[in-house]
Amino acid sequence: MPHQTLSPETLNPPLASVRQSDLSDGQILGLDVTEGCTQRRILVVRRGEEVTAFENRCPHAGWPLDTFDGRFLTTETGGLICAAHMAIFDPKTGACLGGPGQGRGLTPVPVRVDGDHWVIGPVART
Ligand code: FES
Repeated sequence: MPHQTLSPETLNPPLASVRQSDLSDGQILGLDVTEGCTQRRILVVRRGEEVTAFENRCPHAGWPLDTFDGRFLTTETGGLICAAHMAIFDPKTGACLGGPGQGRGLTPVPVRVDGDHWVIGPVART
């Protein structure tokens, strides 16, 4: 069998792809994705033409930010509110703006444009 060369994309593939027309301005999309043997929750935020993504895990106590029925709560200015204990996060950077998550932020997930899709991930390894 010939030797196979693996690219970084093969070793560390994206987590998901979202068609741009499937995410409207101001919408927050929750994704459950499988990475190897690990289940990950991701949230994707669109504000105008800017799209950001984060792991959907609050740094306060590790709960997902959305409600039990999958809704994401926001402030009037678009801050992301954790439904568990109401920590507020910047939708652009993931930094905690108030509440019990202060000093910590959401873990960002890379987003890049590929044609009419946003390609989400992979999650950076630390
Ligand atoms: S788990 Fe998010 S504020 Fe407590």
